[in-house]
This record gives sequence, structure tokens and C-alpha cells, in this order.
Amino acid sequence: MPTNIIDGKEISFQIRENIKLEVEELIEQGITPGLAVVLIGNNPASRTYVTNKQKSCKAMGMHGVLIEFPETISEEALLNKIRELNTDETIHGILVQLPLPKHISDAKVIEAITPEKDVDGFHPINVGKMMIGQDAFLPCTPYGIMEMLRMKGIEVEGKHVVIIGRSNIVGKPAGQLFLKENATVTYCHSKTKNLPRITHQADIIVAAIGRAKFIKDEYVKDGAIVIDVGMNKDEDGKLCGDVDFESVKQKASYITPVPGGVGPMTITMLLQNTLKSAKDVLKHR
Ligand code: GUN
Repeated sequence: MPTNIIDGKEISFQIRENIKLEVEELIEQGITPGLAVVLIGNNPASRTYVTNKQKSCKAMGMHGVLIEFPETISEEALLNKIRELNTDETIHGILVQLPLPKHISDAKVIEAITPEKDVDGFHPINVGKMMIGQDAFLPCTPYGIMEMLRMKGIEVEGKHVVIIGRSNIVGKPAGQLFLKENATVTYCHSKTKNLPRITHQADIIVAAIGRAKFIKDEYVKDGAIVIDVGMNKDEDGKLCGDVDFESVKQKASYITPVPGGVGPMTITMLLQNTLKSAKDVLKHR
């Protein structure tokens, strides 16, 4: 079966063209969507992600602010900055890049962001609303995966989706979004026994493990759809996913590459969420 490589860049491009138009319309109505990205410390990967988020934001005609703090910032000082952003009318989305230094509580920071500006969809209010199918900010990576499949015309209803990884950012919410689309969902994780036996039953595999090229072709049923959320370095220091792309692409009907698959979609959905937040302000005016 010829494999279809899902081009996340191309799908992102199409969505971003629409976002740009909507941003123009909003600006005409007096609202420029604004995103504040907070970066703490000097983690090079975090800096790259944050720079990409900022650049993409500006390319949409949105207002983008990068707020940087040293690793040593106190939790209280960070919470105060978030409270300030919560009431800043030029800012519609607040994102604090994770991971945070050990002396700062992720939960406190996430809960300090007002749910109305929580464009990451990490606040318990948004997580809860998503769980019960209410309007909420959806976390960007799972949201991006669903949009990718939708735009490729891939039906999810009735399919067996096996999610590998149970993080709050990707695995757990991805399962919920697939469930909402009437898929049958199985969660696997580091303690799962006989993983290949389970993944072999999957119509759709979502690999969000964080281990380079972990999913080999023997994990995959012929014709399965494989979504790779991984962002790892291979033995040569090159960016690679959780899936062994070269061998798995021989078996899969569709597969997402790394780079150029889920990654661009994540940023696109962040832009989409920021736009949604700004539109909500207009609605409530
Ligand atoms: N670190 C890795 N992924 C993410 C993300 O989606 N949002 C934030 N805030 N931090 C991250």
C-alpha cells in the first residue's frame, strides 16, 4: 500500500491563511489579537519553541510579546506577572513555556492564568470543559492532530486509536478528543505490558513517548495511520520522532514526518486559540 505522508506544513499553511484574514477583520473592528509568551531560563529547546511561536504570531499580523525571566525568578514574581497579563487588554493569550525551574510549581502557574486567556488549554477549567464537551481552549498538540486528520478527510468514528503516552499536554487530552469523535481509545504508557500486541490492534497510533524511533514496524498493523508527536535527537544529533519513520512508512497508510508533521500544527492551533480568545472579547463587548 503506498504511504501517504501527511504534510503538517502544508495543512498549517492553509489554516494560517484563514487566520490571517480573520486577524485583518478583527483589526478593522479595533481588536489586534495579542499573545504573551513567557520564557524562564535558558533551555535551548524552549527558546527555539518560543521564538517560533513569536515569529508565527507576528506573521499573522497579531501582537506578540516575549517576556523573559532568569532561571532564578521567584514563584511569586512570576505569578504577579501573570496576574498583570490577566488584566492587560492588549493580551488575549498567555503562554508560559514549560518545563519550569524546580522551585516553581507548574500547577500554581497554570492555575494563575485566567481560563479566558489560557490558549494552551492547560487550566483545570479548560481541561474539565473539554472533558464534558463544553466550549474550551483545546491543548494545541491534540487539537492540531484532530485538525490534521479532519483536513485529510480521515474518518475517526469507530476506529481503534491507541495512544502511547499519558502526559497532561498530549496523551491524556488527545484520547479525550478522539473519544468525542466516537473513536475507541486505548491508553498505553511506560508500565504497559506487551505494547506491540496492543499497538498492533490500532487503526490509528499516536506516539507521544519521548523516545527516539521507539515505534518500529513490528508495532504497526498494515494500513494503520501513524501520528508521531516525538521531538527527539537521533544518534547523529538530528531531529527525529518517536517513530522509526523509514521502516514504519512501509506499513502505514498515512504517517506524519518529524520535522514537518505535528510540530507546525501545534503552533498553528496556538494561533487559532489566540484568535478565538480575541473573537470572544468582541462577542462579549
Ligand atoms: N512545553 C512543551 N510543549 C509545550 C506547550 O504546548 N505549551 C507550553 N506552555 N509549554 C510546552
